[in-house]
Amino acid sequence: MKTMTSEPLTGADQEFLDGLVVSQRGRPGALLGILEKAQERHPRKYLPRETLEYIAARTDTPLARVHSVVTFYALFNLEPQGQNTICICRGTACHTRGSRGLLETLMFKLGFHDSSEEMADKTSMNTSDGKFTVRTVACFGQCALAPVVEVNHAVYGHMNEQTLERELDHLGREKAKQ
Ligand code: FES
Repeated sequence: MKTMTSEPLTGADQEFLDGLVVSQRGRPGALLGILEKAQERHPRKYLPRETLEYIAARTDTPLARVHSVVTFYALFNLEPQGQNTICICRGTACHTRGSRGLLETLMFKLGFHDSSEEMADKTSMNTSDGKFTVRTVACFGQCALAPVVEVNHAVYGHMNEQTLERELDHLGREKAKQ
């Protein structure tokens, strides 16, 4: 089983989850809907272990099944996410058009010490200040736009290193202003 992050639920968390379970009861895809909304509500956009256990208990779903759902769908996170998320495609089309160089530039600029190969194994890493999460995906399904990079859910096609650096600088400045 993939490692999960622990974070005890508050009374307000439990109340929210109880309401969610009731509102989704009997709907097709109820479990997915509950998980999605629970993650959306968390300020760090992830699902702690206790949240998964609580949802499993309240929906009478085996925890192993809840876990298999959150590990199957790339949209679910089991670790706290950074304030900004940058996702680089490592599919074949993007790879042949330079996605590896983009990933290396990104990691260098954000101060990661892992190689891009190590990053590929992890698929998700956070900067220590919590400002950035870097992820990789197998394919965005937009191969004609390769290389594709997603910055805070905005998709950029034909990305190059200059544009990526400009986006990073922009996000850095945005954060500095806050
Ligand atoms: S390979 Fe990158 S979008 Fe398909």
